[in-house]
Amino acid sequence: MSAEIVTELADGVLRLAINRPDKRNALTVDMYAQLGDGLERADTDPAVRAVLLHGHQRVFCAGNDLADFRNPPPVTPGEERPVHRFLRLISTVRKPLVAGVTGSAVGVGTTMLLHCDLVYAGPSARLQLPFVNLGLVPEAASTLLLPAVVGHQRAAELFLLGEPFDADRAVALGIVNAVVPDEQVVETALATARTLAAKAPAAVQLTKRLLRQGRAEAVARQMAAENEHFSAQLRSPEAAEALAAFAERRPPDFSAFHE
Ligand code: COA
Repeated sequence: MSAEIVTELADGVLRLAINRPDKRNALTVDMYAQLGDGLERADTDPAVRAVLLHGHQRVFCAGNDLADFRNPPPVTPGEERPVHRFLRLISTVRKPLVAGVTGSAVGVGTTMLLHCDLVYAGPSARLQLPFVNLGLVPEAASTLLLPAVVGHQRAAELFLLGEPFDADRAVALGIVNAVVPDEQVVETALATARTLAAKAPAAVQLTKRLLRQGRAEAVARQMAAENEHFSAQLRSPEAAEALAAFAERRPPDFSAFHE
């Protein structure tokens, strides 16, 4: 069986490739753990000077595995959940992070991009933040980071309506650097990561730190608040209806719910 997260170090670039195309690269607990291990390695291994994150040519990442949402795997009390560890690490990793996106990037598939330093996308990219459609709330501090980049009204549109948007719109919004042909997305992101890997490492990492440090505490606080609401909503009848609807391939019916 091939690895669901392919991890490979070459020329100072640690590649983390999401590789579960039959389930549209939806992330399971194990996959979050492996992505977390990769990000931890990025910061502890001096041979890593940049990180490249990409998916499969047809799909970047369909978000959290919805089956895991319906039947959450048990957690050891006091232990950080792999998803929370991944989000903590992607928001704090010292090494520069370059992403290449083709195909769908849904939920955390989009919110993780807000933590990347450079993002390239192909015309096939379809980003989407359907948390509300699933009876959930956004995560990854995206309720802080997205309005900071795109403004309140556009963030509200993307979160509350949850419609997909393409790479051109993502560039216009400021969450993707450039659109390149699909077949060149990974090589463009890799070439950029190699360029970063060849630069003075302390200067690169200090600059990344300075770009983020003004909001680092606010990001951690927002993530904690989102995680609390997310866990509560995940146990709600609203999410139960939305997740059952996805499994049964029918539209959800929220008409019976009152807040
Ligand atoms: N979790 C678990 N399985 C998922 C999944 C997810 N997030 N997204 C897709 N899959 C699975 C489907 O259940 C299906 O499995 P099956 O072949 O065993 O029935 C397979 O991946 C293919 O999905 P399908 O919907 O037929 O693919 P598509 O190419 O037509 O559409 C997406 C791709 C990503 C647009 C669509 O799958 C989708 O919207 N997925 C849900 C995304 C989502 O809401 N994520 C959570 C965000 S918080």
